[in-house]
Amino acid sequence: MIDPWSSAILNYEKLIEEFGIKPFHDLLGDLENPHILMSRGVIFGHRDYGRIVKAMREKNNFAVVTGMMPSGKMHIGHKMVVDQLIWYQEKGAEIYIPIADMESYSARGIDFPEAKRIAIDEYISNYIALGLDPDNENLHIYLQSENKTVGDLAYKLAKKVNLNEMKAIYGFSGSTNIAHLYTPLIQVADILHPQLEELGGPKPTVVPVGPDQDPHIRLTRDIAERFGSQFNFISPSSTYHRFITGLTGGKMSSSKPKTAIFLSDSPEIAEKKLKSAKTGGRESLSQQEEMGGVPEDCVVYEMLLYHLLQSDVKLKETYQQCREGSVMCGECKAKAAEMIKDFFKDLEMKREKAKDKAKSILN
Ligand code: TRP
Ligand code: SF4
Repeated sequence: MIDPWSSAILNYEKLIEEFGIKPFHDLLGDLENPHILMSRGVIFGHRDYGRIVKAMREKNNFAVVTGMMPSGKMHIGHKMVVDQLIWYQEKGAEIYIPIADMESYSARGIDFPEAKRIAIDEYISNYIALGLDPDNENLHIYLQSENKTVGDLAYKLAKKVNLNEMKAIYGFSGSTNIAHLYTPLIQVADILHPQLEELGGPKPTVVPVGPDQDPHIRLTRDIAERFGSQFNFISPSSTYHRFITGLTGGKMSSSKPKTAIFLSDSPEIAEKKLKSAKTGGRESLSQQEEMGGVPEDCVVYEMLLYHLLQSDVKLKETYQQCREGSVMCGECKAKAAEMIKDFFKDLEMKREKAKDKAKSILN
């Protein structure tokens, strides 16, 4: 069982073996200019993504839905979803971004006004600062609690889901509160509502998420089928990305500040944090010269791979130099730290500019 509300580390290979998620690299060749997160293997799995490939190739209408639970600060791992949204926006997708204030209320105890504040200051501002175009007519950002279409659809869909099923999927028990029990249905409706007649009718839809969200995807796909004759839903597709490693080596998590670089950190703090990150370097310089480092175990390398280095050629160079021991961690870190500092300077400025726009979107 996968619990979407815990922060356990998942085994990606097992997901592919046990849950029927398919390896993403098998269809990489079918994509026109894939995103670096795709070509570099960060996005490792999918369900039915072939449908999305086809829609993009044939320039057919398709939707992308991915939400956020406004519960804390956004860290650099969360940027991955935004990068994908920007890529899909460039491909002409209809984009839906639910802000899961109902989920943060039921699962995290955050009140609605506070969730709205976090959504504006932390999330939407950063989404725009990172490059999402807020004025694109195909972009829809909404609060779950304020979207009547979604709320009504969730209620209708709930008619064909029973308690035993929710227990089996999520491990809910007799002491689970009903708000929490119900919020997955809201998420199911987030994902399926773009296919309602009033929003253009059935269309391929992709949900780019971390693998912790897969229980919701499985439930959605099952429900879509159950309502086949009523709504003609096309079963939604999904993609799964690896989580970024935290600065200390475990999972990056907003609730453990020592592990995370927050998007709202100052450029100097971001730089300092990256310099303190765990690397794949050896005990001594002479050992490193002799044996080389291990980029696979290095948070700094991962940061370059996920976020900082757009050039594949430069990334490969860094990898090789590390492996053959021709560059030492000090120098390598200093370069990466400089890059993150510049990135954060730019982000800080853009976020300030985006604040008013972010506010206006939810009002
Ligand atoms: N449950 C997601 C999270 O914890 C947020 C979410 C809400 C979502 N609705 C969604 C994700 C629809 C994907 C699709 O962050
Ligand atoms: Fe990481 Fe760079 Fe050190 Fe290699 S040289 S282990 S990539 S910091």
